[in-house]
Amino acid sequence: MQISSLLHFALLLLFPLHLPWTVADNSTALYFNTSFADGPYIAKPDCQSKCGDLTVPYPFGIGIKANCSVNPFFDINCNSSFNPPKAFLGKHEVLGISETKVLIRNKLASLCYIDNNTPEVNDFDTDFSGTPFSFSNQNKLSLVGCNHISLMSKGSELDTYTSSCVAVCSKPQELSNGSCSGIGCCQASIPKGLQYINISVLSLNVLSSEYNFNPCGYSFLAEQNSYIFSVSDISDSSFINKTKETLPLVIDWAIANRTCNDSSEIICQGESVCVDSGTTLGGYRCNCSRGYGGNPYLSPGCQDINECEFNPCHPKAICINLPGSFNCSCPPNYLGDGHLPSCSRLNAFDFSIKNYLVLPVEILLTGLPIGAGLFILLAVSFWLYKDLRKRRVKQLKQSIFKRNGGLLLQQHMSAHDLVLGKMRLFTSKELEKATDRFNESRILGRGGQGTVYKGMLSDGRIIAVKKSKQVDENRLEEFINEVVILSQINHRNVVKLLGCCLETEVPLLVYEFIPNGTLYDLIHDDSNGFPFSWDLRLRIAAEIANALAYLHYATSIPIYHRDMKSNNILLDEKYRAKLSDFGISRSVAIDQTHLTTKVQGTFGYLDPEYFQTSQFTEKSDVYSFGVVLVELLTGQKPISTSVTEEEKSLATRFLTTMEGNRLQTILDSQIIEQGYTEEHVIVANLARRCLNLTGRRRPTIREVALELESIRPRENPSFIESNTQDISFTGTDSFQFPEDCSSWTQNVGFES
Ligand SMILES: *[C@@H]1O[C@H](CO)[C@@H](O)[C@H](O)[C@H]1NC(C)=O
Ligand SMILES: *[C@@H]1O[C@H](CO)[C@@H](O)[C@H](O)[C@H]1NC(C)=O
Ligand SMILES: *[C@@H]1O[C@H](CO)[C@@H](O)[C@H](O)[C@H]1NC(C)=O
Ligand SMILES: *[C@@H]1O[C@H](CO)[C@@H](O)[C@H](O)[C@H]1NC(C)=O
Ligand SMILES: *[C@@H]1O[C@H](CO)[C@@H](O)[C@H](O)[C@H]1NC(C)=O
Ligand SMILES: *[C@@H]1O[C@H](CO)[C@@H](O)[C@H](O)[C@H]1NC(C)=O
Ligand SMILES: *[C@@H]1O[C@H](CO)[C@@H](O)[C@H](O)[C@H]1NC(C)=O
Ligand SMILES: *[C@@H]1O[C@H](CO)[C@@H](O)[C@H](O)[C@H]1NC(C)=O
Ligand SMILES: *[C@@H]1O[C@H](CO)[C@@H](O)[C@H](O)[C@H]1NC(C)=O
Ligand SMILES: *[C@@H]1O[C@H](CO)[C@@H](O)[C@H](O)[C@H]1NC(C)=O
Ligand SMILES: *[C@@H]1O[C@H](CO)[C@@H](O)[C@H](O)[C@H]1NC(C)=O
Repeated sequence: MQISSLLHFALLLLFPLHLPWTVADNSTALYFNTSFADGPYIAKPDCQSKCGDLTVPYPFGIGIKANCSVNPFFDINCNSSFNPPKAFLGKHEVLGISETKVLIRNKLASLCYIDNNTPEVNDFDTDFSGTPFSFSNQNKLSLVGCNHISLMSKGSELDTYTSSCVAVCSKPQELSNGSCSGIGCCQASIPKGLQYINISVLSLNVLSSEYNFNPCGYSFLAEQNSYIFSVSDISDSSFINKTKETLPLVIDWAIANRTCNDSSEIICQGESVCVDSGTTLGGYRCNCSRGYGGNPYLSPGCQDINECEFNPCHPKAICINLPGSFNCSCPPNYLGDGHLPSCSRLNAFDFSIKNYLVLPVEILLTGLPIGAGLFILLAVSFWLYKDLRKRRVKQLKQSIFKRNGGLLLQQHMSAHDLVLGKMRLFTSKELEKATDRFNESRILGRGGQGTVYKGMLSDGRIIAVKKSKQVDENRLEEFINEVVILSQINHRNVVKLLGCCLETEVPLLVYEFIPNGTLYDLIHDDSNGFPFSWDLRLRIAAEIANALAYLHYATSIPIYHRDMKSNNILLDEKYRAKLSDFGISRSVAIDQTHLTTKVQGTFGYLDPEYFQTSQFTEKSDVYSFGVVLVELLTGQKPISTSVTEEEKSLATRFLTTMEGNRLQTILDSQIIEQGYTEEHVIVANLARRCLNLTGRRRPTIREVALELESIRPRENPSFIESNTQDISFTGTDSFQFPEDCSSWTQNVGFES
C-alpha cells in the first residue's frame, strides 16, 4: 500500500500532470472573424453578388432599379465596360465592403510649383451629405511636403476647419523614412461623423530653394496605419497615382437614420443584434451574435460558425461544434478540458503503472527509453515488489511447469518474466463439465487454430473454450503466445481471457462468452435479418480502431494484432466489438519498428507491403483495418468469387471506385437506403488512406481512431473506461483527477 503510493507520488514528480503546452495568445477571437460576405446568404435572391472581384453583400445591392439593395443609397453600379468591372457607389469607385466600412478610391489635394512661380492647385472635396455614409475616424489627414500646410474643413465657409497639419524642412538630410512627425510628413486625426470635407494644401512660402527637391505638397485622408512615409515620396512625380492605387479612403456606413430603439423598422434577422452606428449621425447596423456568422440583414439571418474547422481546441483534442459555440474534449489518454492549453497527456505512465508493477523485469530487460530516474525508481520498487511476491510467483511457476505446455509457457515466462495476472488455471474436470465433455452441439466455430466450444461454469458464467486441433509444436506455441499477449491486455473492446487449462493433452483457453457472433457474419450473412445501421457500423469501426490503438500505443510494449479481419471481431449482446484471436500477434520492443517474420495472416486483409517485404509494421494492422472499414461500407467480402484477378480484391475495387469518384456505386445498399451523407465520404476517405500501398503514408491507428470518434463523439470513449478493472492486485488506492474529461479511478496497489 505504502509502496504503491510512494511510487505513484514519485511518478507524478517525474512527470507533472500538466505538461507545458505553448499557447497561441487569445486567438479565439480569430475564429469568430467571418465577414458577412461569407456564407450562403450574401445577396438577395436573383441579385448579382459580385462585381468583378468585389463581393457586394446585402444591404448593398447591384442593379440600380432592381431593389437588390435596402434603399437607393446602397445601390452599387457595376460598370462592366471596364475590365475587370468596376463598382461605383454614386460617383465613388468602391474597393471593398465590410461589416461596418466601405473602402473607396482616394483623392488627393496638391500644390505644385512646377516652374517656380505659378502654383498648380488641386483641392479635394467630397460630399456625402444626406446619405448614410460618413468619413471614418479611422482615417488620418496626411500631408507630404516641405513647408506646406494642409487644411481640412467640413463646410465651404472659412470658419469650419476641423483638422490641419504642417510639414517643414529645409534640406533632404532632415527627412527620415517612416517618420511622420512634421518634418516632410505630418499626420493629424479627424473627428467621426463628417459627411463633407474640403482639403487644400497651402505653401508656407518661406524659402524658394526647397522647391528644387520638393516641387509639390500632397494631402489626403487614408486609414491611419496604411501610409508609411518614405523619403522618396517628397520628390516622386507618380505619388498621386501610387496613393490612389494603394491607399483607400475609409467610409462608415449605417442603415437610414433609424436607431435600434425604432424596433418596428429594424431589419436585423435571426441570431443577430441591432447595433447603433456609433457615428454622430444616427443609423444602425446588425451584428451577428457571438459564434454566428454570415449576413445578418437577409433571412434567415446569421448561421452557426463551425469553429471546429479552425481547430480552436488543443491539437490533440476532439472538437464538437455547437450552435453558437464549440466544446473541446480531450482524446482518450489525455486529461483536461480540451481547450488550449489544458489537454495533458497522462496515460503514458498511467496505463503502464500496472504493467510496470506486473512486468518489472520485462521493463528492465527491454530498457524502455524513459529516463534514468524512472529506471532507478523502478529498479528499487522492483526489488521491494519482488520480495513481496516471490513466494507466490514461485508457487505459480512450479504448478504450471509440471503441466502440459508448462515448459513453453515457462520459456516465455523466463524470457519476459511474466506473471499470469488475474488469469485462472482451470482444471480439465471443470471444463469438461462446463462443455458437456466437448459435445459437438456446443461447438461455436472452428478457426485456424482450433475449435471453440460454449460452456457454463458451475457459478453460472457462460464461457467460450478454445481447444487446439492437435498437439502440434507450432499450434501450442500460438496458444501460449495468446496467453502471453492477452494476459497483458485489459480493454473492453478486446475479448477477455479468463484463464487456461494445461492439464489436458492439448491446452485449452477460456474466454468470456461473446454471444452475437462475428462481424463477418453480421455483414455478410443476410439470413440474420438484422438491420445493420450506419450508426452501428460507425460505432463498431471506432471501437475496433480504439482497441487497436490501445494495443499499439497504450500497452507497455506495442502489440501488433497481425490478423485483423472481420472474422476476428466478435459482437457482444449490445453489439459492442471485441477483438479476438491473438494467436499470431506479437509484442515488439519500443525501439523496434517492425518485425521480420514469415508472412502470416489472411488473404484479402494482408498488407501488400508486408507481403513483399516480410516486414510487419504497425501500418500493416492499419491496412487490414482499412479492409474491415471497406467491408463495413460496402457490405462485400474482402475476396469475391468474381472472375477477373483485378476484381477479386475488395480493397482494389474500392480504391478504383474512389478514384473514379463513384463511391455511391459501391456503398452497401442498406446504407444508401438510410440516406447518403457526408459521413460516408469521410469514412470512405479514411479507408482509402488506410489502404495506401505505402505504409508510411497510412495514418496511424490512433489518428484513425480519433477521426472516427470525432465523426460521432461518444460520451465515454472506450479508452477511458477500459482499464478500471485490476489485473492482479487486490489492494486499492483510488485517486481521481478532477478534470472534465472524465474522472479516472484506478486501482493500483499491493496485497498486504
Ligand atoms: C487573454 O485572455 C485572458 C483570459 O481569458 C485575459 O486575462 C487576458 O487579458 C487576455 N489577453 C489578451 C492579450 O487579450
Ligand atoms: C480575419 O479578417 C482579416 C481581415 O479581414 C483577414 O485578413 C483574415 O484572414 C481573417 N481571418 C480568418 C481566420 O478568416
Ligand atoms: C421596388 O420596390 C418598390 C417599392 O417597394 C416597388 O414599387 C417596385 O416595383 C420594386 N421594383 C422592382 C423592380 O421590383
Ligand atoms: C461605364 O463607364 C463608362 C466609361 O466611364 C461610361 O461611359 C458608361 O456610361 C458607364 N456605364 C454605366 C452603366 O454607368
Ligand atoms: C476648399 O477650401 C479652399 C481653401 O480653404 C477654398 O479655396 C475652396 O474654395 C474650397 N472648395 C470648395 C469646393 O468649397
Ligand atoms: C528610404 O526607403 C527607400 C525605400 O523604401 C530607400 O530606397 C531609401 O534609401 C531610404 N532612405 C533612407 C534615408 O533611409
Ligand atoms: C497617373 O495616371 C493617369 C491616368 O491613370 C495618367 O494619365 C498619368 O500619366 C499618370 N501620372 C503619372 C505621373 O504616372
Ligand atoms: C432622417 O431624419 C431626419 C430628421 O430626423 C428626417 O428629416 C429625414 O427624412 C430622415 N431621413 C431618412 C432617410 O429617413
Ligand atoms: C433608446 O431607448 C432607451 C430606453 O429605452 C433610451 O434610454 C435611449 O435614450 C433611447 N435612444 C435613442 C437614440 O432614442
Ligand atoms: C459586433 O460583432 C463583432 C464580432 O462579433 C464584435 O467584435 C463587435 O464588438 C460587435 N459590435 C458591437 C457594437 O457589439
Ligand atoms: C460542453 O462542455 C462543458 C464542459 O466542458 C459541459 O459542461 C457541457 O455539457 C458541454 N456541452 C455539450 C452540449 O456537450
